[in-house]
Amino acid sequence: MAKISIVYGSTTGATEGAAQQLAALLGATATPIAAADASAFDADLVILGSSTWGYGELQDDWAAGIALLDAVDLAGKRVAVFGTGDSCGFADTFANALGILADKAVERGATLVGQVPAADYGAAESLAVRDGKFVGLALDDTNEAEKTPGRIAAWAKELQAIL
Ligand SMILES: Cc1cc2nc3c(=O)[nH]c(=O)nc-3n(C[C@H](O)[C@H](O)[C@H](O)COP(=O)(O)O)c2cc1C
Repeated sequence: MAKISIVYGSTTGATEGAAQQLAALLGATATPIAAADASAFDADLVILGSSTWGYGELQDDWAAGIALLDAVDLAGKRVAVFGTGDSCGFADTFANALGILADKAVERGATLVGQVPAADYGAAESLAVRDGKFVGLALDDTNEAEKTPGRIAAWAKELQAIL
């Protein structure tokens, strides 16, 4: 059975909640980045989660934890990213953290999986949108929390299909 490891950063619990739902659906472990070591990135599929804070920045724990990613070799590994944001309050930087994590994972040699069509979302600008797709699963619990469970379930299904 494929080993799936979720590593996430969450300040108020929104991304943590998503991480736990994904872990349950995928039979994965979920580790806060603040408590992770290099072994957390040793899996067939690594799923990185971060909410977006400041103005388009990584969640605080990731700001420190990104050094862990800098030290691991993700060559040959598949990585997917997810996280919560606020597409109305931060319409210029919605879920930017996904873009930052995705770029870092690719820089470390990973193959990015789990992109999501941006057409499923509103008009917010985001560093995480490339060629009409979010680089991973963007969630907006502030404005459309009702869509979160369905988005998570659909994404988990997609990831399962490629494993
Ligand atoms: C001070 C502040 C700055 C924020 N900056 C952004 C932002 O730039 N982009 C975004 O999409 N969301 C932004 N948000 C919204 C959070 O990402 C959102 O509330 C998220 O669900 C928090 O997730 P967490 O509980 O997992 O940390 C910000 C929220 C606050 C309070």
